[in-house]
Parts: sequence; structure tokens; C-alpha cells
Amino acid sequence: MKSIKEVMLSRHSCRKFCSDKLNSELVREILDLARLSPSSCGLEPWRMMIISDPCELKELSVACNSQPQVAECSHAVILITRNDLRVGEEYLERTVRRRANTPQKYEAAMNYFRAKFADLDDEALMNYATKQLYILAANIANIAEGFDVRSCIMTGFDAAALEKFCALEAKFRPA
Ligand SMILES: Cc1cc2nc3c(=O)[nH]c(=O)nc-3n(C[C@H](O)[C@H](O)[C@H](O)COP(=O)(O)O)c2cc1C
Repeated sequence: MKSIKEVMLSRHSCRKFCSDKLNSELVREILDLARLSPSSCGLEPWRMMIISDPCELKELSVACNSQPQVAECSHAVILITRNDLRVGEEYLERTVRRRANTPQKYEAAMNYFRAKFADLDDEALMNYATKQLYILAANIANIAEGFDVRSCIMTGFDAAALEKFCALEAKFRPA
């Protein structure tokens, strides 16, 4: 495992990947570590979709403005944001319950979120959630480099095409 200093000196955006497939256990380990990333209020408003099938990678590459590194990489990780963060929504309640260990703390957290998101419409809430994914993305790239795995963070994609590729419910959006 590389040191943080070695990671910061060697990480770069790779656009020419070798054809080796990464061990899926290693990919899982990288993403499991990255899942520990910080997020506003600890809401972790993300999901990850992992694509490794060569035909699907080709299809995904088209949605990413035909950038060739998507078709050529071993695994693509699509970071997906979510806006089901309102009181009454199962995701918020489940996430808060993990941290609030008394009914009083749970109620206090719910009152906090009720007020915090009261003035945000669904799109503003999605934007708030999307910002949380940048640290996650950086950590994935840096952790991968720590394991000597190259990466390329990307926002160069056609939003409608990528949404169609991911085929998710409206509360999720690829970021
Ligand atoms: C938010 C974000 C979006 C990016 N999108 C793309 C992309 O769509 N395609 C690409 O080849 N590189 C993309 N990059 C990589 C940048 O071009 C790269 O980080 C920058 O030129 C610095 O080079 P380095 O990462 O090798 O240090 C993106 C980087 C970030 C942080």
C-alpha cells in the first residue's frame, strides 16, 4: 500500500488503461474504504453502480461523449446521488437511526432535517446531495492509487444518455 505522500505524487487521470481485468475483491475493497468518506450531516447520499462487462462499458462510453478510456477500463464506477432525504422518507429515517441511539436524539435529528430542507425543492435537494459526491470521488481515486490502480474522475457525459443507461428511479441521478 502506498503512503499518502506517494499517492498524492503519483495519482493522475489515466486515459490509456491496460487490458487486465482488476480482481473484483480488490474493487470491492477500494469502494468499501471510500464509503467511509465524510458527507454533510453524515447523510451519505450516494450509491455506486459498477460496470465491468466489456459490452456494457462500450455502451457507457457512448453516454460519456465517446471517451475511449471508459470502453477500455477494467471497471467503471458510476456515482449516483439521491434526494430522498426528507422526513418521512425511508432512506433518511434509516440513516438517522444508525447514528441516533435514543428516541430523543432521533426526534431532534428529524426536527433538524425538517427545518434544514424545508425551503429546498427536489432539484435543490439533488444539487445539495450531488456536492457530497466530490469527496467520495476523490477518495476512490486516491485509495485506488494506494493499491496501485489507475483511475480517471469524469463528469464529461451526456446527462440524459447516462440516466437512460442507469435506468434508475427519479430520486437517483448519476453524478
Ligand atoms: C470533476 C472532474 C471532472 C473531470 N472530467 C473528466 C472527463 O470527463 N474526462 C477526462 O478525461 N478527464 C476528466 N477529469 C480529469 C481532469 O482533466 C484532470 O484531473 C486534470 O486535468 C488534472 O490532471 P491529473 O488528474 O492527471 O492530475 C475530470 C476531473 C475532475 C476533478
